Amino acid sequence: MKSNYLIIFILIIFTNIVCSRWIPRKENDKNTNICDKLDEYINSLYSNVEYLNYSDIKACFELTPYNKTKATQVIEAVKENFKGFYAFLDQAKEPNPAFALRPIDLISELDLVLKNNYSFEFQFIYDVTDLIQELRDGHTWLESKDYHKYSFDQGISMYSVIRKDGTQEIKVFNDVKDPCNVDCQVIDIDDKPAIEVITEFARNHTFFSRDLSSRFNSALASLAFGNGDFYIAGQLFTFRNQLPKNPSISYTLNCNGKFSKITREWQVPIKSVQYKSPYINGASVGKATLIFDAFVARFYILQDFGVVLISTESILTDANADLEYRFLSNVAIGFKLLADRGIKKIVLDLSNNGGGQIFIAHYINKLLFPNMQNFPLDFKVNDLSIPLIEEVSKLKKGIGSIFHYKSFISAETNCPFDSVNDFIGNNIYTRGGDQVKYTSKAFFNDTTLYTGTFKLLKPPKLPWTEKDIVILTNGLCQSSCAIITQRLAEINVPTIAVGGFPNTRFSFAQYAVGAAYSSDDLIVSLVLLKNLNSSLISKLSIPGNLTLYYTIAEAYSLKNQNEVMDYAFRPADYQLYYDERSARDPSHLWIQAAKYFRK
Ligand SMILES: *[C@@H]1O[C@H](CO)[C@@H](O)[C@H](O)[C@H]1NC(C)=O
Ligand SMILES: *[C@@H]1O[C@H](CO)[C@@H](O)[C@H](O)[C@H]1NC(C)=O
Ligand SMILES: *[C@@H]1O[C@H](CO)[C@@H](O)[C@H](O)[C@H]1NC(C)=O
Ligand SMILES: *[C@@H]1O[C@H](CO)[C@@H](O)[C@H](O)[C@H]1NC(C)=O
Ligand SMILES: *[C@@H]1O[C@H](CO)[C@@H](O)[C@H](O)[C@H]1NC(C)=O
Ligand SMILES: *[C@@H]1O[C@H](CO)[C@@H](O)[C@H](O)[C@H]1NC(C)=O
Ligand SMILES: *[C@@H]1O[C@H](CO)[C@@H](O)[C@H](O)[C@H]1NC(C)=O
Repeated sequence: MKSNYLIIFILIIFTNIVCSRWIPRKENDKNTNICDKLDEYINSLYSNVEYLNYSDIKACFELTPYNKTKATQVIEAVKENFKGFYAFLDQAKEPNPAFALRPIDLISELDLVLKNNYSFEFQFIYDVTDLIQELRDGHTWLESKDYHKYSFDQGISMYSVIRKDGTQEIKVFNDVKDPCNVDCQVIDIDDKPAIEVITEFARNHTFFSRDLSSRFNSALASLAFGNGDFYIAGQLFTFRNQLPKNPSISYTLNCNGKFSKITREWQVPIKSVQYKSPYINGASVGKATLIFDAFVARFYILQDFGVVLISTESILTDANADLEYRFLSNVAIGFKLLADRGIKKIVLDLSNNGGGQIFIAHYINKLLFPNMQNFPLDFKVNDLSIPLIEEVSKLKKGIGSIFHYKSFISAETNCPFDSVNDFIGNNIYTRGGDQVKYTSKAFFNDTTLYTGTFKLLKPPKLPWTEKDIVILTNGLCQSSCAIITQRLAEINVPTIAVGGFPNTRFSFAQYAVGAAYSSDDLIVSLVLLKNLNSSLISKLSIPGNLTLYYTIAEAYSLKNQNEVMDYAFRPADYQLYYDERSARDPSHLWIQAAKYFRK
């Protein structure tokens, strides 16, 4: 029961293909069909097949024809989930010049999808996926266990360097098939200029930021710290979870003046590909000295300043919640060690941090700034959400759930809500031309969010102020990461974003929302509530092995009280660029970042 009430804030980039993944067996085919064959390759311990081929996967997908009845059921359930719970359903209809987003009336556009004719089910699923991703809301996407389960890989990844004169180049970052290509310039992709192709891909087919510059970074490769090591993250252009339109991509390369054109087929590696960074070995990074490794965080000293890396935590489950809280206590210890060493300034590098538990973000904020108030939030109020809030609020063990009024503190009075009606409140806003109801604005009561038994370290007293910290990201600091960085930026901690386009300031973080949820979580919660009308469950259950993820609570700025954080354009104060060295050794960026501490 407990895990359904965890508010977990994770942006899952892709699930790498793993051996145990289930593949649909088509009942209508008694002979071994192509899907079964793929299944066998994946499950066979002795096979020496390393990759699944594009054409085989396509053939497998094409065994399932489009069924309009099934498609209609999917669309109806997706619409109900969005109508009931998607915090930005109405705001998405508004023009958005800051991020150049198309206004989207999701409900009517979902209906329009049903007007298309499809031959195969996967084409329909991909159209719905693409439409939802066009919101450019990293918490909001549709996942199909059948059609998003493979990772299509080119084996090559790219990055972008920007020269002092402002010229931008795409280069090969890593190539597992032919290391000789590393650092060759990529001039054309499929005979079109590489920068244009990647920009267009980032604009239309990525959704990890509303800001195109950050999405451009996500299409390319960059180093990330996570799982206790550095690995190559992003590279969405060459590492995809939807069957690509064409079976291969060509690259025109310039390797020290020698031009060549290579073609790469899309392949699906059977063994999960670990893109470990070949560039950083061991604990030290450049001239930075590791002084403490907290697994989810690392603490370095470089020259006279400290560097703290914090990774996406994704290890939390009921079984090991305490392990995560132990790591969190170690994060506090790491900061204390830097303070004890007399470190006066800190670069906080949160590049490629996709978020984690809200509780953890709040803990880190309070660790650095003990009096810090976190962003207030609210939820949609309507016929679907009210019964849920009311029923969950009757359960004592529901405290800690995002549907229980006792999980919150009123933003107006700074006291707990007197009753569930007090929490539901009576706020009406005009969004996207419609009057919409939201709950009273509230802060999470962090005590109720804590799910462990481990006694968390009482935060030590630390010496730093907003003048002593700078935040560095590659624009991909999402969710809980944004709850940290955007909140610190509101108290004037300087921010730096690296990468993007020449002389184009861009967002250092995105999606500092109140909470994210999924259709699966919702159904589990509903099933536990005996008094709810069972028609609600059938309305909201999404058929077809699909899970819908969405933003369920919106957070508001504290500096600019009516501004919804998710739609606020907050460009970084400063921009840095990658070059051949700094893309592979972040200590070069840390040294540049250290120039921006506030005077
Ligand atoms: C994929 O295609 C290659 C080249 O055509 C072939 O050698 C290989 O056996 C195929 N793999 C599978 C799993 O069918
Ligand atoms: C389409 O799906 C519906 C609902 O799942 C099912 O009853 C029907 O038999 C399917 N039609 C075909 C042609 O498979
Ligand atoms: C879709 O297919 C049906 C029948 O196969 C046809 O009558 C209809 O015109 C098609 N619609 C479009 C938009 O192509
Ligand atoms: C990107 O989207 C625009 C607008 O919808 C469209 O005109 C363009 O063809 C798309 N490009 C790609 C590569 O999908
Ligand atoms: C937060 O919740 C805890 C546990 O339910 C409660 O004891 C505490 O008083 C609450 N804090 C505030 C500020 O209301
Ligand atoms: C359950 O909801 C449906 C409509 O959603 C309504 O027709 C029905 O009367 C409700 N049943 C109960 C027991 O409230
Ligand atoms: C979803 O998975 C179940 C088994 O878990 C399978 O029977 C069913 O065919 C799948 N549905 C689709 C649409 O593939």
